Amino acid sequence: MYVPCALDRMQSFRIDVANLPSIAEIHLRDEGSRCQEFKLYLAGQAKSMGDLRVSVNSLVQNGAVLPHEDLQRNTETLAKQIKHNSVVEDVIAAPGMIYFRLNKLMLAQKVLKQLRSEPDTFGLKSELLTHLHGSRTLVEFSSPNVAKKFHAGHLRSTFIGNFIANVKKAVGKEVIRVNYLGDWGMQFGLLGAGFERFGCQQKLRDQALQHLFEVYVQVNREAEHDDNVRVAAADFFRRLEQKEHLALSLWKQLMEITVKEYKRIYDASFHYIVVLSHMSVSAHWLMTERVCAGLDCDWLIFRKGTTVVDLSDAGDLSSYATLARSDGTSLYITRDIAAALDRHQRFGFDEMIYVTDKSQSVHFQQLFHILSAMGHQWANRCVHVAFGRVQGMSTRRGDVIFLEDVLDEARSRMLNNMRESRTSKALEDPEETAERIGISAVVIQDFKGPLISDYRFEWDTALQAQGDTGVFLQYTHARLSSLLNRFGDEMMCGDLSPLTDNRSVSILQHLLRYDEILLQSATDLQPRHLVNFLMTLCHLVSSAHRELPVKGSSLEVAQARLCLFSAARSLLANGMRILGITPVDKM
Ligand code: ARG
Repeated sequence: MYVPCALDRMQSFRIDVANLPSIAEIHLRDEGSRCQEFKLYLAGQAKSMGDLRVSVNSLVQNGAVLPHEDLQRNTETLAKQIKHNSVVEDVIAAPGMIYFRLNKLMLAQKVLKQLRSEPDTFGLKSELLTHLHGSRTLVEFSSPNVAKKFHAGHLRSTFIGNFIANVKKAVGKEVIRVNYLGDWGMQFGLLGAGFERFGCQQKLRDQALQHLFEVYVQVNREAEHDDNVRVAAADFFRRLEQKEHLALSLWKQLMEITVKEYKRIYDASFHYIVVLSHMSVSAHWLMTERVCAGLDCDWLIFRKGTTVVDLSDAGDLSSYATLARSDGTSLYITRDIAAALDRHQRFGFDEMIYVTDKSQSVHFQQLFHILSAMGHQWANRCVHVAFGRVQGMSTRRGDVIFLEDVLDEARSRMLNNMRESRTSKALEDPEETAERIGISAVVIQDFKGPLISDYRFEWDTALQAQGDTGVFLQYTHARLSSLLNRFGDEMMCGDLSPLTDNRSVSILQHLLRYDEILLQSATDLQPRHLVNFLMTLCHLVSSAHRELPVKGSSLEVAQARLCLFSAARSLLANGMRILGITPVDKM
């Protein structure tokens, strides 16, 4: 049996309390421990001291609870029996309590040595995470529509999906990122019919997304009062599904242009790779045919000309999904079934994660239901990460949001703020810095709460320098960087005994929790745990800035403190990168 403590992730910090001769079992009060599987629970850490305090609620011996009067005496016996090692300097019994006094110097040495020698992988090799290693995760995110506007929902999906892919990778998974441009449906029928009417090849070359969007808006407007347009759209889609040459080559051309354009925007602005995968047309047909063939005949029901699949438990069609219209054309869900089969065949993933807003929850439930009814066991390992709506995200150019507009807006607002506070003058590339900070602001605003909640986006709140914002994270990182630049970021940590004060110890203990936080985020796919962890780190660092000065301290103390600050900076940067934020060194 082990006493779990904040340090138990490192083998040598475990305290062995096994083989206690007189006490078979120890029940301790559970006051919110994180280690439910242990019989001993943490009652709380004596935070300032970095020591561990466990309150003893009752003691059980040979199956019988010891009388309360004996508690004190037995607690003392217990304390004596617990072997302490070099990590635990002392074990002390108090009424109803056992204190473990930790070896703070050793704590500093362990944490800092590890962080200094392998700054990029700190915490990632923890035993806590090993069971996650190796398997393959496919994350589908961003997934804008061809020609429709890239709205705030797509931006949210892009941020969240990128975070999920990063955190899965960090905990040791192989990750495949998919951006699904799966448009092939009535809306594409409209676009195709519209383009045949008033599309312009020149504009398409110059400003592809903008032009397609204009065509789409215009054709929608006309379709509202002109039946001919609606007929032409349905006709175009039918032509597509029947592989008609002209329709097909227009589709191909528009897809290629869109993919190229999106690649440019994603690469230029986000610095992460997105594999844009639109199914090749032949794969699409093959898969759609397989979907229909693969579903057992009992499953497919022809209903008023359409083809549906019964999803009800009772088999009474109280819940069903339509897979083909009466003219034989496919629907959103049909194409998603085909896409899932195609991906499984191509990538052989162990789990697949879809990131979209919550309005699509039923769609994904149905999708997983159908895949599993088709006999695909991996359907149980498909997950939909649903998020709430963002209200009020508009730019100076208006409500229509293209990805670039948001990034431009974030950059220009941040640049403005920087000019006002006159911090930008020493920067080599203020634009680049402003963009990075601007994106951090938007990302953190987005990640602070549970993803499922709706929230109102405010530029001013997001861009505040104080409070738990992305700007604050960047500011803390930049401040640490400038301290380390000024006084030197020594590679070797010397004597660390100056780091046994309460403040240093709380930072060290906090750093040790990193693996737990990653595990939590990689399991429930919510970024807020990591955001909170980093915010707390920044608050600890900012009081340490005041109370653990480098300037004016003896060489030995200064060096030890710089070593601590450098470790904090490394972990802060690692965490920020997982969130999808590029840390800045100056601002
Ligand atoms: N393009 C869709 C939309 O904007 C999202 C696609 C989500 N992914 C999927 N496989 N259905 O609503």
